[in-house]
Amino acid sequence: MSERSPISIEGLEIPDFTFKPNVWTETFLSGLNTINVKNLKVVELGVGSGIVGIDLIRRGVSRYVGVDIDERILPVACRNIDAVVPNNSCDISLMTSDLLSGLGEEKDFDLICGCLPQVSKPPTISLGTADTYARYFDCDQYCSDLNIYGLGLNEGALIQSKERLKPFGSVVLVLSGRAGKEVLEKMFERNGFSPKIIFEKNIAQLKETTLATLVEYESHGCNFYFYSDQECNKRISVAEAEDRRLRGLDSYHKLYVVEGKLNSLRQNL
Ligand SMILES: C[S@@+](CC[C@H](N)C(=O)[O-])C[C@H]1O[C@@H](n2cnc3c(N)ncnc32)[C@H](O)[C@@H]1O
Repeated sequence: MSERSPISIEGLEIPDFTFKPNVWTETFLSGLNTINVKNLKVVELGVGSGIVGIDLIRRGVSRYVGVDIDERILPVACRNIDAVVPNNSCDISLMTSDLLSGLGEEKDFDLICGCLPQVSKPPTISLGTADTYARYFDCDQYCSDLNIYGLGLNEGALIQSKERLKPFGSVVLVLSGRAGKEVLEKMFERNGFSPKIIFEKNIAQLKETTLATLVEYESHGCNFYFYSDQECNKRISVAEAEDRRLRGLDSYHKLYVVEGKLNSLRQNL
């Protein structure tokens, strides 16, 4: 698994309410780099600044649909794509949509990909202020027993993708290893996808994201995978990771890019 060279955000407009591309974006791009996307019909869930769309368009996708739940984001992504990859031959649509709900009738995509939030919104945070949509989701809107691991939104993406993919199409998601690899694999399998990890990296927990909801779930017996060292050998509790965050210290977890291939012709029939 080869890592891409560090991304450049030079020339991109990135206002405060837009997710600033970081190690999650780099890992996402490294994972997508393992797939030949030429002439594929692709949806990206959660376009943010448009940086991943720009990469996919450069690499020759024939259709790029970028969706984001935050309506403030799309004009930014649109301007960035127009500025960085003008005169491309890709058929591009950008739309405000909660996952795939706003997509109309279009189906038969080869690939649906996304780097979506994996922390449930604590009561103190309002979605839609600053860049909160990039970090949190409202678990009441995405019913899943995996919400205890912050995975309800991503499971929602898998469920909705089944109806939009070509037979044997793929979903590629960037997923925190905080829940452990087995939970992630189970999420794909129970929704009719065969999972494969196409890229992985150990990363520091983002210091600006509170782990309060995970601390609460841990106190009810849930297991999470956090580490005090970058090699991810020395396991610590979420409570300890949150305490370290509040003291300005790093904690680490794994980050996986998982490709799920749809198992059969139409899972939803
Ligand atoms: C972590 S950012 C990733 C942005 C960009 N893809 C990148 O890698 O730099 C997540 C993006 O998903 C969007 N998002 C969050 N919830 C969403 C939902 N339910 N449907 C669509 N987009 C969503 C956020 O507004 C944000 O722009």
